[in-house]
Amino acid sequence: MVAEPTITKKTLLGVCCSVTQPAIRRCLMAAVMFCVISLLVFSYYISNSELHRLNPDPPQPSFQCYSQSSDLLNNFHGSSQLNVHASSARLRLDPKVLVIIESQYSLLGKQISEILEASRTRFKIEIAGKNLPVLTRQDKGKFAVVVFEDYEKYLFMNKWNRELLDKYCLEYGVGVIGFLRPKEKPLVHTEIHNDFDLAISTNLKLYDYHLNPNSSVLRLTRPEETFYGDLPTSDWTVFHSAHSTYKPIAWARAHNLTGKPASENQLMPTLVEDQGQIDGIQRVLFGGGFKFWLHKLLFLDSISFLSHGKLSLPLDRFILIDIDDIFVGQKGVRMKPSDVQALLEAQERLSHSIQGFRFNLGFSGKFFHHGSGEENKGDDMLLKYVDSFWWFPHMWGHMKPHLFYNHSLLDQRMLRNYQFAKQHGIPVNSGYSVAPHHSGVYPVHEQLYEAWKKVWNVRVTSTEEYPHLHPARFRRGFVHRNIMVLPRQTCGLYTHTIFLNKYPGGPARLKNSIYGGDLFSLFVYNPINVFMTHLSNYGNDRLAPYTFESVVKFVKCWTNLRLFTVPPLKLAEKYFELYPEETDPVWINPCIDKRHKSIWSKTKTCDQLPKFLVIGPQKTGTTALYTFLTMHPAIVSNYPSPETYEEVQFFNGKNYYKGLDWYMNFFPVLKNSSSLFLFEKSATYFDGELVPMRVNSLLPYAKLVTILISPIKRAYSWYQHMRAHKDPIALRYTFYDIVTANETFPKSVRELRNRCLNPGHYAQHLERWLSYFHPRQLLIIDGEELKDDPASVMSRFQRFLRIKPFFSYRNRLKYNPSKGFFCPVTEENSVKCLGHNKGRNYPPMDYRAEKFLSTFYLPHNVALSKLLNKLRQPIPEWLERDLSRG
Ligand code: A3P
Repeated sequence: MVAEPTITKKTLLGVCCSVTQPAIRRCLMAAVMFCVISLLVFSYYISNSELHRLNPDPPQPSFQCYSQSSDLLNNFHGSSQLNVHASSARLRLDPKVLVIIESQYSLLGKQISEILEASRTRFKIEIAGKNLPVLTRQDKGKFAVVVFEDYEKYLFMNKWNRELLDKYCLEYGVGVIGFLRPKEKPLVHTEIHNDFDLAISTNLKLYDYHLNPNSSVLRLTRPEETFYGDLPTSDWTVFHSAHSTYKPIAWARAHNLTGKPASENQLMPTLVEDQGQIDGIQRVLFGGGFKFWLHKLLFLDSISFLSHGKLSLPLDRFILIDIDDIFVGQKGVRMKPSDVQALLEAQERLSHSIQGFRFNLGFSGKFFHHGSGEENKGDDMLLKYVDSFWWFPHMWGHMKPHLFYNHSLLDQRMLRNYQFAKQHGIPVNSGYSVAPHHSGVYPVHEQLYEAWKKVWNVRVTSTEEYPHLHPARFRRGFVHRNIMVLPRQTCGLYTHTIFLNKYPGGPARLKNSIYGGDLFSLFVYNPINVFMTHLSNYGNDRLAPYTFESVVKFVKCWTNLRLFTVPPLKLAEKYFELYPEETDPVWINPCIDKRHKSIWSKTKTCDQLPKFLVIGPQKTGTTALYTFLTMHPAIVSNYPSPETYEEVQFFNGKNYYKGLDWYMNFFPVLKNSSSLFLFEKSATYFDGELVPMRVNSLLPYAKLVTILISPIKRAYSWYQHMRAHKDPIALRYTFYDIVTANETFPKSVRELRNRCLNPGHYAQHLERWLSYFHPRQLLIIDGEELKDDPASVMSRFQRFLRIKPFFSYRNRLKYNPSKGFFCPVTEENSVKCLGHNKGRNYPPMDYRAEKFLSTFYLPHNVALSKLLNKLRQPIPEWLERDLSRG
């Protein structure tokens, strides 16, 4: 009998190694290395086999229209006979929609708002049951269409309101849209109202949606197509009427209306136009909501139709598809020659439906030839076909620009990419660029804009981050340093989405987005769409060509939209022609949005922004207040400006275009920012039209301080100020002439009059500030009290700021009889009054001017006293005096 050998650790090791200590160590290391190498080989094998398993058949954009005519996709211009909604009649209507919703929280109401917001249609929301808003202004209708989330709220409105609304609709040619809601107990063939000769059946499940090619309502919607299959939800309403006023816009078949087999069911109207034969008012009635995607299109068409084209979207759509990360990407996700071939073919096919179509390729040269052998051939093939595409530069090494603090380093990196492009024959003159992860575009990193201009002569870029990533429907463009920033839309393809089966949330999610969902809607709502895709979306499953070819087919099938692609510079010019109001940027506090903060330079801090602002108006004692504030140990002012001295004047006028960095550089970086209060005073902020909105965007939590004196006195002090500054008009004309200047006076005099009088419309300006800020954020100082008892005002001010330590001004402000004002006392106990230009001596006001201004300011003063009452603020003595004089 042979004994079993005893296998011990020692004997095992002994098989391959001798048993000395260093030899054991060597052995262990060899074993570990062997494990690591086998793991690497194994994972490479697994991942590659997965690629191969998923890769052989990329999905095809196989969507077919039922109505597809052979030349549909080769047709840039869609159907030739489109309904024109624009009317030649002179309509006295504002292009705005009135939406009456059931409650603040109702889902359909929310969806209606979202569609209107996304299509940039102006609208006003009101809750049903309340009084109607004012419908007219100076014989002009304020709304071109009225939408009822629940049509019954219109039918059974109180008599007075209903008569008022119907009269308005008749007189101004305004149409009504109404949605029929499901009932707790289903209705079958039930009259909706005595006056309308219309019955409904509710709570139905429907299928097969047909459009009426003869309906004049359809404009965006291409009527030839039919939706086959079940419609979402089982809460549809269908309409029944023999009256000729009702013309179906769409029909569907009902599963459970008659009990007959489905195949025998008739088409039932689900969307009808009431042509107004009964009472003269045109209406469109919806038997279902927006769970069915087609209703979004039909809703926009109904608005266009009922507003007589005043609220029509254009039919032209400009699409730019950027392919970012060219040459960037790990092995295994890059493009091989076959993918480049597929890209060229997709471009060719897309160019049949999108006039002038070209893919726009953004490259980072550093990673050229960093793929596998086949992928490197893919890089070469892209260059072989360099002229078939448009090109734009990315960063050389795909680095985030906000991480570069100094100009020259950023310039250098860009130059390397520039040289790379030159070397490889890539065009360098597109004038377009984008930044990795939107970094430096918004929030603005000035260094990026400068380097872009210097190295690449960039004129256009795009981002998803302005003003914020979410909600996407509010993304906008702006212009900074002559670079046009376009909003970019998200198509749902990211660097890591390379396989349809692994699409986040499943392939159905991408398909839903394409076939009537988010991506399709972007084509419908936005006349201009810039989409970002990535190199990786064109390898493996080639999800990007699949997605765009599918959505374009779907758009062509269901809409009359005409698709174009134009180079980025032309596209940007078009964008700002369409939306000139967006040219001006709005600087938002980068610390409020997490994403913005993550792409904002670490060298910048929101602590370098003021905690409160003294907003004016001019000549009310703002310099005195500013001087007193700077005496406080915990209050720190801005650095002086070479042009405007102690005032920064950022939020009004041209300085705003200099950007956030420019503004922040006026403030010191504080060691103890939480206990110190940075502030600035610019007296022209008070009456600046855009200032409250701009301040609110950058400093939403800031406190605001205004000083009010009699507007009559203020106007006179301002006039004297202009004379002291040798303004030729103020020197030539008397105060009375200026304040009473009418149309017979030269323009320059009238302009000076406006500048003199407008800031005194206190209530109007305060209301504007209060539409952006909570009253708790605003301190109103009585300028007379500031003059006569500044120490009390300063105590109140400190309580308003909740500032510590409390600083007693009693002994630090001393009345100076020769100046006639209180003056600061320095720590060395010397009195330092304000300069000679503050608290001037000038002759008393002309009696006639005073009398004129008392009457002129009376309505403004009345409005101010009402506002102060509403704010539970005391009425200053000067106001009571002015009111009694007016
Ligand atoms: P006048 O020069 O017409 O008297 P502002 O600084 O906003 O331009 O306002 C100037 C006004 O502040 C002066 O107008 C003056 O009446 C007023 N004022 C209030 N307190 C003052 C003070 N302590 N010293 C100087 N001027 C003061």
